[in-house]
Amino acid sequence: MDHEEIAEDLGSIVVTQEQISVRIRELAAHVHEDYKDQDLLLVGVLKGAVMLMADLSRALPRLVEMDWMAVSSYGYGTRSSGVVRILKDLDGDLNGRNVLVVEDILDSGLTLSWLVQNLRSRGAASVEVLCLLRKPSAVKVDVPVKYLGFDIPDEFVVGFGLDYAEQYRNLTCVAALAPHVYEQA
Ligand code: PRP
Repeated sequence: MDHEEIAEDLGSIVVTQEQISVRIRELAAHVHEDYKDQDLLLVGVLKGAVMLMADLSRALPRLVEMDWMAVSSYGYGTRSSGVVRILKDLDGDLNGRNVLVVEDILDSGLTLSWLVQNLRSRGAASVEVLCLLRKPSAVKVDVPVKYLGFDIPDEFVVGFGLDYAEQYRNLTCVAALAPHVYEQA
């Protein structure tokens, strides 16, 4: 897919590359302050959080461990199925650790709400959430997001880790996907 074809698939830019980069640096400064002199384990949720994790971890002026989980509730569709499956579990133990879950988007909130409960049950000293994007539908959901990037409108968005059928993850901004792309699928 070349640049012209990509542009045809996209609607408006929802968050620019510059906005993302500024916000991640602000969030990293808060995280750094809150976890000063404390253990911190970043848990990234594959695959969407890869870009966020890469930028956030490098914006932290300290050493930090990273571990990864893959869970899926979407498959190839555009709506959450409500069933969360662990596709890849953490490599390490959470006992006594301060866990910060790093996630790209809170949509229905199902994934994070399930994940936070799951991680809390493993004996972590604390479990907090850092999430780049939140849709209106998730505002009501009981997910304690300590560090939030942006509240965004209820559109199907792609880029900066977010995909549609595994495409568009490497866009540097977050953009709305034109309805003709998923309506023809
Ligand atoms: C997406 C996204 C979140 C989840 C959010 O993951 O990365 O994990 O959906 O939706 P929810 O709040 O409605 O649960 P997906 O299952 O598409 O996997 P991916 O990260 O590999 O794209």
